[in-house]
Amino acid sequence: MNMLNVALPKGRLGERVYAMFEKAGFPCPAIKENNRKLIFENPEAGVRYFWVKPSDVAIYVERGAADIGVAGKDILLEYEPDVYELLDLKTGICRMAVAAREDFRDDPTRPLKVATKFKNIARNYYTSVGRDIDIIHLNGSIEIAPILGLSDVIVDIVETGTTLKENHLVVTEEIVPISARLIAGKASFKFKNEPIEAIVNSISRQMEAIQ
Ligand code: PRP
Repeated sequence: MNMLNVALPKGRLGERVYAMFEKAGFPCPAIKENNRKLIFENPEAGVRYFWVKPSDVAIYVERGAADIGVAGKDILLEYEPDVYELLDLKTGICRMAVAAREDFRDDPTRPLKVATKFKNIARNYYTSVGRDIDIIHLNGSIEIAPILGLSDVIVDIVETGTTLKENHLVVTEEIVPISARLIAGKASFKFKNEPIEAIVNSISRQMEAIQ
């Protein structure tokens, strides 16, 4: 049987998103067993789920290893994968923002040193406001960079704001709101259109019902 392959982001967001698929009529009870398996299938519901690193979901979908998946808008903006964005799942809500030390004052005569994991988002943003920057690409714990003087500001995800607060940083500019999106591969969307549309419609109805 031709199952629909669904790439889910491993972690808390993935669990919330799986619950949406389950409620929408695509359950896979084995996924809740506490083990280290990464692939789960339910032939009756026609779905096979697999857990991947959140930043890798779009790669699986773009290359057709998964038909659909759930990726943060941050990843879609940063890597611009060649996929269709079908639905805003309105979960995993946060924002991409610029933050700096409370006492930071910008000197417009020098390039701004920007530490970030999201160098394309940062570059596009500063191009749009006409500010010269020097990007410092880091892989995590970005908040440390301005404290140690490695950068002037950071471009990062802010959810509750706790990480910034605990490191005495403040948001200075909002770049874009972020949430989880349901994405589909272009070939899959064409050749497995019926089951993909069924999932999208069912999840949309679920979301409307709880609003
Ligand atoms: C993200 C982000 C911030 C934090 C923001 O990190 O990079 O550090 O969450 O959340 P808050 O506003 O609720 O404090 P994540 O946990 O995704 O890991 P990372 O260190 O790999 O970026």
